[in-house]
Amino acid sequence: MAVLEILRYPDPRLRNPGKVVTAFDDKLAKLVDDMAETMYAAPGVGLAAPQVGVSARLYIIDVAAGEDAPSELRVFVNPEIVESRGEIDWDEGCLSFPGAREEIKRAEWVRVRAQDASGKTFELESDGLLAIAIQHEGDHLDGKLMIDRIGVLRKRMLHRRMEKAAQTGRRALEGCR
Ligand code: NI
Repeated sequence: MAVLEILRYPDPRLRNPGKVVTAFDDKLAKLVDDMAETMYAAPGVGLAAPQVGVSARLYIIDVAAGEDAPSELRVFVNPEIVESRGEIDWDEGCLSFPGAREEIKRAEWVRVRAQDASGKTFELESDGLLAIAIQHEGDHLDGKLMIDRIGVLRKRMLHRRMEKAAQTGRRALEGCR
C-alpha cells in the first residue's frame, strides 16, 4: 500500500471526468487499497480517484474516519444516484481544498447504485453524512468541485485563497533546492 499525492485546487487535473471502470482486477484492488491508505492518512471521510490523478469513476467513503469508531469503508465503482429527496445545507470540506469549509445545498436523502471492487452491483439508501459524501464524491467523478456550488463572492475568496496557498507551496519547494 502507498499514500498517494492528493491534487489540490486549482490543479487542472481535478477537472478531468472519470472514465467508466471496466476491469475489476488486481490493479483496481491496489488502487482502492492505496486510496484508502491516502484517505485515512489525510484524514478524510471520502476520496475520489480523480483527486489522486486517476481518471476512473470510483470513490471511497468511510464516515467513521477520524472518529473513535470501527471502520466502515465503502467502495463505489461506476456509481449513479438513481433517486434523491429533500434539501439540506451542509458544511463541507474537501481534501483538494485543505482547510476550507463551505456550506453547500444538497439532497437530504439519496439512493445510489454502484459496483463494489469485485464488480458486484449494489444499491444503498442513505441520509446524513453518508448521503452528503456520496453527492460530494460523485461530483469529483464529473470534474465538478465544491467551489462550483457556492455563491460568486465566496467563490472568488476561496479561489484567491487556494491560489495563494499553491504559490506559497511552490516557493517553499524552490527554497529547498
Ligand atoms: Ni472533495
